[in-house]
Amino acid sequence: RIQKILTLDAAPAETITLNGWIRTRRDSKTFSFVELNDGSGITGIQVIVDQSTPGYDQVATATTGASATITGKVVESPGKGQRWEIHATEFQLVGTCPSDYPLQKKGHSPEFLRSISHLRPRTNLFGAAFRLRSKISYAVNRFFNERDFVQVHTPIITASDCEGAGELFRVTTLEGDIDKQPASEDFFGKKTYLTVSGQLEAETFACALGKVYTFGPTFRAENSNTTRHAAEFWMIEPEMAFTDLKGDMDLAEEFVQAMVRAALDECGDDLAFFNRFVEKGLIERLEKVASTPFERLSYEEAVNLLINSGRKFDYPVHFGANLQAEHERFLTEELLKRPVTVYNYPKEIKPFYMRLNDDNRTVTAMDLLVPGIGELIGGSQREERLDQLIANLKHHNLSPDEYSWYTDLRKYGSVPHAGFGLGFERLLMFLSGIQNIRDVIPFARTPGNAGF
Ligand code: 4AD
Ligand code: MG
Repeated sequence: RIQKILTLDAAPAETITLNGWIRTRRDSKTFSFVELNDGSGITGIQVIVDQSTPGYDQVATATTGASATITGKVVESPGKGQRWEIHATEFQLVGTCPSDYPLQKKGHSPEFLRSISHLRPRTNLFGAAFRLRSKISYAVNRFFNERDFVQVHTPIITASDCEGAGELFRVTTLEGDIDKQPASEDFFGKKTYLTVSGQLEAETFACALGKVYTFGPTFRAENSNTTRHAAEFWMIEPEMAFTDLKGDMDLAEEFVQAMVRAALDECGDDLAFFNRFVEKGLIERLEKVASTPFERLSYEEAVNLLINSGRKFDYPVHFGANLQAEHERFLTEELLKRPVTVYNYPKEIKPFYMRLNDDNRTVTAMDLLVPGIGELIGGSQREERLDQLIANLKHHNLSPDEYSWYTDLRKYGSVPHAGFGLGFERLLMFLSGIQNIRDVIPFARTPGNAGF
């Protein structure tokens, strides 16, 4: 891969073969300079093909976007910028690229590139975004493995609405000709949905294996057109038995800092690119996040801070109000200037599964908010007391019978347990400075974006 070659200490004696796509070509009378990029990094490698090279006749048709296989020797580059270049011993054009190729040399806006999502991974911005996504995905699994968590693949199709927000996509069974027949109502006789969260299923495994996590796609039918919401996004959900709210917040903060470190340590070139073209000061910002303790505030303290700030908000703040993006951003970006974990929210605005506090009006919820994004993580200690959980279900108009599998966890050897969910795309936005969630998902699913 080209990135490996660019960082070699010494040139290999043998010739090497590279496959990739041509970014640019400059010709002189007797030779051509070709910049070849294979997707392994931002920069390609300069290749010199001279008229004696087999395949030289094909170079004239090797335009931007064409694919090529090039064999050659790695030699020290006399020019500035790169240490190594390739002197080709064979040039082979693999696929030509006509002049209507949309990704010519000039820069394009992310909006335009979104309209050609099948080609945008070939640009520097999206190459970097999706390499980052892959590296951080690996870092997520490594983080939990190092701490003895077991990964659980929770189902995509489910009958429960974990968050109780009614933002569900229905799953139906199609009968006969897909275009002519109406969809039947149910999934083989039962109403089912695409999961909004793997939490409830993960809890069953935490109450058996101790520490588990899920990492998979989740779905929300929210028809909101924001830069931070998608209908299909990936969530990371650890769940730990014998753990309370404090242990949960500790893990959340440690996890976010570890992911920031992983990006800094393992995605250097791509981060440098974001730092230059997406967010000036990104690397400095991330270094600070990795090394500065996060703030922790109870919901009540956060509300009081907001009220006493004197700031006029579109949504007025008072105890019992949901914190809106404007509040979350004000806290993290202006007031405290760092990530903030807010805990103990009023019970009325949170789902049925959170543990009721002794004050009888708050639950052991926590949200981790970060500058530039707002809510990155939502989690809680779960209600482990059987009677209270059944009361909660009834209060939320949910049938304890339907949730008997869930209440069984409290009937048979119940334990305090806690977990959280982190939106993977929001993490990637935080790490890259990319402002729109559509630009960190390979194929975004948002209202108006149903796919090919
Ligand atoms: O706060 P949420 O809704 O929490 C849960 O689903 C819990 N069951 C998680 C748990 O405790 N295991 O979602 C968790 C996170 C949010 O903080 C946010 O980062 C992300 O998921 N998220 C979204 N990301 C992109 N698009 C959306 N529509 C999102 N909705 C939530
Ligand atoms: Mg939430």
